[in-house]
Amino acid sequence: MRFHSIWAVLVGVLFLAVAPAVAQEAADAPRAETGGAQTLEDILRRQRGEEVDDSFRRDATGDPDAAAGIANQLGALGGASNSEVFRALRYGSAEVTVSSQGPAAGVLIQDGGMWWLEFRQGPLKTYGGYLLLGMIGLLLLFYLIRGRIRIDGEKTGETILRFNGLERFGHWLLAGSFIVLGITGLVSLFGRLYIIPLIGHEAFATVALASKWVHNNVSWAFMLGLVMVFLFWVIHNLPSRHDVVWLLKAGGLFSKGVHPPAKKFNAGQKLIFWSVIILGGSISVSGLSLLFPFELPMFAATFAKLNDFGVNAWLGMAPFPELLSPHEEMQYAQLWHAIVSFVLMAIIIAHIYIGSVGMEGAYDAMGSGQVEKQWAKEHHGLWVAEVEAKQGAVPDAKATPAE
Ligand code: HEM
Repeated sequence: MRFHSIWAVLVGVLFLAVAPAVAQEAADAPRAETGGAQTLEDILRRQRGEEVDDSFRRDATGDPDAAAGIANQLGALGGASNSEVFRALRYGSAEVTVSSQGPAAGVLIQDGGMWWLEFRQGPLKTYGGYLLLGMIGLLLLFYLIRGRIRIDGEKTGETILRFNGLERFGHWLLAGSFIVLGITGLVSLFGRLYIIPLIGHEAFATVALASKWVHNNVSWAFMLGLVMVFLFWVIHNLPSRHDVVWLLKAGGLFSKGVHPPAKKFNAGQKLIFWSVIILGGSISVSGLSLLFPFELPMFAATFAKLNDFGVNAWLGMAPFPELLSPHEEMQYAQLWHAIVSFVLMAIIIAHIYIGSVGMEGAYDAMGSGQVEKQWAKEHHGLWVAEVEAKQGAVPDAKATPAE
């Protein structure tokens, strides 16, 4: 940095610390007085999170015409100081030659990615964390108020097969991989903040590397589980008229002894199923584009389609950007991947609760596959009737679901 630039920054900092009145004066000073460097007002605007016109830096990348001859002292930089060269790199105006031919290989610093970095380090972590903690809090509250949802009627001692071995395998492949992906993903996002202070940089480097490796590779198990579960259960998750009644009665979740009729899956489970398929599918696709950097850009094309449909106008927003650099594509993919994952994690936390401690008799469906008949009649009465009708068990086949 040139001497007068350093001087200008030092003076700025001094003003900030000791003399507000003088600082105000400096803030109003034209840029010429700082020797073309940033002013105190620029610094203050940036601190307030406001837009700063940085063209004075963006364009200050040296003057080739003033360059010393290549053989002269300081000639090698072509008339630019180190700061000027770095500014040219940062703002994408440097002429970079690289031997690697990969997309964006010539981008050494990407100033346009600062918003992504700040969003990832700030709101993404904060709101994502609150979402998960909020869901855990809500479930705790629900447990305190409603307690464990019990089987209301007399247990029969008989069981009925709810999910066969292959269905349970598909479920646990999906569930096991999702939990591993969730934990390793959170390590990547929150590790620097919460794990480094606990175990130090050295140990965290190993944890982070292992986490990333596991995350990248376990993703295939998740995608396979997703396809299996979709094929097994899609037919049972198509909407039906019973779903409306179920939703109007909130599934009886908030009132004891209320059991709206349901087939194999009730409306609540259908919502879980479609969330898993749609959000899990979107996480998979954006994950693939992160796994194969720059190979599967999809945001510019998606934004163009959204603009064509006028989605931005419905939302009262400016058109989405249709021209994205390779790095920007990756940044959108990362944010989308993380945001959708947070939403699905919150939904799945609720699912895990209701499938285990939250409801008596539910876990067996995915444990042994055999559920207590009374549980099945209360929660899936129409399905029990269907199964028994198929088996020719006449009396129960006509049974109406408990209300
Ligand atoms: C420890 C974790 C989990 C437990 C204890 C659990 C438990 C269960 C149980 C008991 C059922 C059957 C409900 C019934 O019989 O009606 C079920 C179904 C299902 N599970 Fe899980 N599950 C877990 C994790 C997951 C994860 C991580 C996913 C997806 C990412 C998932 C997706 C599903 C889906 C789509 C269904 C069918 C729809 C439904 O019943 O909600 N599960 N789970």
